[in-house]
Amino acid sequence: MNILIVGGAGYIGSHCVRQVAAAGHRPVVIDNLAFGHRAAVAPDVPFYDVNLGDEAAVGKILVDEKIDIVMHFAAFAYVGESVHDPLKYYFNNVVATLGLLRAMLAKGVKKFVFSSTCATYGIPEKMPLVETMPQAPINPYGQTKLDVENALKSLALAHGLSFAAFRYFNAAGAAEDGTIGEDHNPETHLIPLAIDAATGKRPPLQLFGTDYPTPDGTCLRDYVHVDDLSRAHIAVFPKLETPGVGFFYNLGTGTPTSVREVIKAVEKVTGKKVPYTEAPRRAGDPPALYADSTKAKTGLDWKVKYNDIESIVATAWKWHSAHPNGFGK
Ligand code: UFG
Repeated sequence: MNILIVGGAGYIGSHCVRQVAAAGHRPVVIDNLAFGHRAAVAPDVPFYDVNLGDEAAVGKILVDEKIDIVMHFAAFAYVGESVHDPLKYYFNNVVATLGLLRAMLAKGVKKFVFSSTCATYGIPEKMPLVETMPQAPINPYGQTKLDVENALKSLALAHGLSFAAFRYFNAAGAAEDGTIGEDHNPETHLIPLAIDAATGKRPPLQLFGTDYPTPDGTCLRDYVHVDDLSRAHIAVFPKLETPGVGFFYNLGTGTPTSVREVIKAVEKVTGKKVPYTEAPRRAGDPPALYADSTKAKTGLDWKVKYNDIESIVATAWKWHSAHPNGFGK
């Protein structure tokens, strides 16, 4: 099938492009390179530098490339920034996404795979998280993703759109061959910052909060390998054959890992100390977020290949050590 990957030059999108090709489909990429990297996509993959909200341009690509399924990864994803600049988030993550969906419906393309997030759950009362638990985002970023989830339900009913929305936990790691990986600017994620602190590329890591009600006092997260995430997007294709269906899946390993455990894994994998200072809690960080991914594991032909934090960090290290400046080389 011909798969349009919107945001295909970004971190998760670029890994998905590779997995789509490896599964025998034909990826086509749209990315305006606001955050993505042209070098993250192989030169032989059709690439369009357009905005996802440009309905005319997107409509033409849908027709010209005979697109069967659209995957959408292009979103702003800085939680803190979303609090300070909510309009930026509502316009890009909601309004532009609605433009993309309108372009799809106008051209009769009715299969959609959406990147959602565990941030739609807010601060959950119970763990692990199951898809049916209440969603109450505590920041505009999470709210924009939930808004799109809700729009998708309406479009399924009204227009027969078939969709899957994947609620990612903490995407981490890099392609096994180390040729593409995580390169955000600014970087805010724990694993790349810990690796860069270990190599001395960045200052010592700040460990945000040591007084959480968790076994070692630091936040628990569910780190899931970016290739495992990507494979779920392909495993869901058969489900989208039925018009008007919608699916929501948590994607995580189900293993809670603390910030201190991540630091230890980085030290073990790199063979270097991670210098860090203990800092106050970061605003908006829930103490624990980890998935019950039973629904994805049983409902899709999908299983997690990278089950432990060290194997995930090892792939990140392969990428970062070979590309200390990311895609800038
Ligand atoms: N952390 C530090 N120091 C840092 C960076 C992070 O201690 O310099 C801690 C955070 O406080 C958190 C953990 O490491 O406890 C993971 O933080 P990340 O920033 O790597 O990831 P988040 O869990 O904050 O973010 C992820 C996704 C977001 C999503 C969010 C939902 O990256 O897209 O989960 O809460 F919105």
